[in-house]
Amino acid sequence: MYSTLGVTGRPNVDWCESHKVETIRTNVVGTLTLADVCREKGLILINYATGCIFEYDSDHQLGSGLGFKEEDTPNFTGSFYSKTKAMVEELLKNYDNVCTLRVRMPISSDLSNPRNFITKISRYEKVVNIPNSMTILDELLPISIEMAKRNLTGIYNFTNPGCVSHNEVLELYREYIDSTFTWKNFNLEEQAKVIIAPRSNNELDTTKLKTEFPELLSIKESLVKFVFEPNRKTPVAA
Ligand SMILES: NC(=O)c1ccc[n+]([C@@H]2O[C@H](COP(=O)([O-])OP(=O)(O)OC[C@H]3O[C@@H](n4cnc5c(N)ncnc54)[C@H](OP(=O)(O)O)[C@@H]3O)[C@@H](O)[C@H]2O)c1
Repeated sequence: MYSTLGVTGRPNVDWCESHKVETIRTNVVGTLTLADVCREKGLILINYATGCIFEYDSDHQLGSGLGFKEEDTPNFTGSFYSKTKAMVEELLKNYDNVCTLRVRMPISSDLSNPRNFITKISRYEKVVNIPNSMTILDELLPISIEMAKRNLTGIYNFTNPGCVSHNEVLELYREYIDSTFTWKNFNLEEQAKVIIAPRSNNELDTTKLKTEFPELLSIKESLVKFVFEPNRKTPVAA
């Protein structure tokens, strides 16, 4: 059984701050119930969860290349959304039939989808610029099907190896999609004035997933191969 069950909030995760019971109902009660019913029925649950339960800290500094591992305890509960997701991940560890996939900043080749991370940040008035682990769905969703076939359970950091920053993504957007594209940056303090809950920024260690799937591309290679090349609108440089 596969599940993408979860509330992330509309228009964004700030919604969860003012709808706590609804957020618990889906992200905790719903997810646990599903895991429990699957266990009763002898089914493995492939649970598309989140890696937004970590933030850079002194042992995992931005740019250090030291990512959070599967066994690390979540250190980011700054938003109610992340808090529910961290709590449910902890409880799900007790279910031997669950495969928890920590997805981050999902990107797909469908640039018309407003939920696509690239589409989202290309429409923001101002954007922060922080390296993060991200998930290229075109590459990783087929891998999750294969994980089910292999009966894998437990926690997996479900991102491409390495990090990419907002500006690096937007530079690729300008190179491949719209050569006239421009954007403005702002810093975390300025961002804090236009959002309610803090956001998670982190790097996840992908050694476990890469060991199982050695062909897994780095985030930058995957972005170009699965997203930007198939969508190219600008002429190829001579
Ligand atoms: N989007 C992100 O940036 C992001 C990043 C990392 C991880 N994730 C995780 O990935 C998963 C999918 O996220 P998404 O962005 O695809 O969210 P989404 O578009 O809002 O989809 C969530 C799904 O959950 C279902 N759902 C919500 N509440 C439900 C309930 N009470 N009972 C039954 N079904 C319910 C929704 O059904 P309906 O369509 O019928 O409402 C929908 O199919 C979530 O667990 C999320 O936490 C998302």
